[in-house]
Amino acid sequence: MKKVLFVCLGNICRSPMAKYIFKDLIKKNNLENQIMVDSAATSSEEVGNGIYRHAAAKLREKGIEFDNHRARQITPQDYEKYDYIIAMEDRNISNILRIVKHDSENKIHRILDYSNSPRDISDPWYTGDFETAYNDILEGATAFLGYLLNSRK
Ligand code: 4NP
Repeated sequence: MKKVLFVCLGNICRSPMAKYIFKDLIKKNNLENQIMVDSAATSSEEVGNGIYRHAAAKLREKGIEFDNHRARQITPQDYEKYDYIIAMEDRNISNILRIVKHDSENKIHRILDYSNSPRDISDPWYTGDFETAYNDILEGATAFLGYLLNSRK
């Protein structure tokens, strides 16, 4: 079982979208018994809050199932528990490192670094552009799943 943790700043927009988009891809590829997914924040700002309504509306529009997510902050224990810690942007990586202190096992990566066009996922909390966030996350999630399938022993 591979364990993946998607991480963004607030854990109410991008990382929950990534979790549910990735779960959808996993389901479509019959990999539910092989890959486990969760999401977390670097900030404590939104802890306990649900997925932001515009992010939920975008998932609903795209036919992606989601359940009652509650935002939580990443902990040092998450570094031990998860095999991959997948950030949305460079700034998330420095913030993750402030909390988990090290990346000795090279687990922390940016989602679009698995794509042909490495870049940050712009924060739709600030841009208001949930369509771009959705498309960029789908691109990253698809590329990351391809990487996992190729690297499977
Ligand atoms: P996210 O967006 O990191 O994609 O969940 C944000 C949501 C809330 C805040 C920042 C970013 N906030 O500061 O409350």
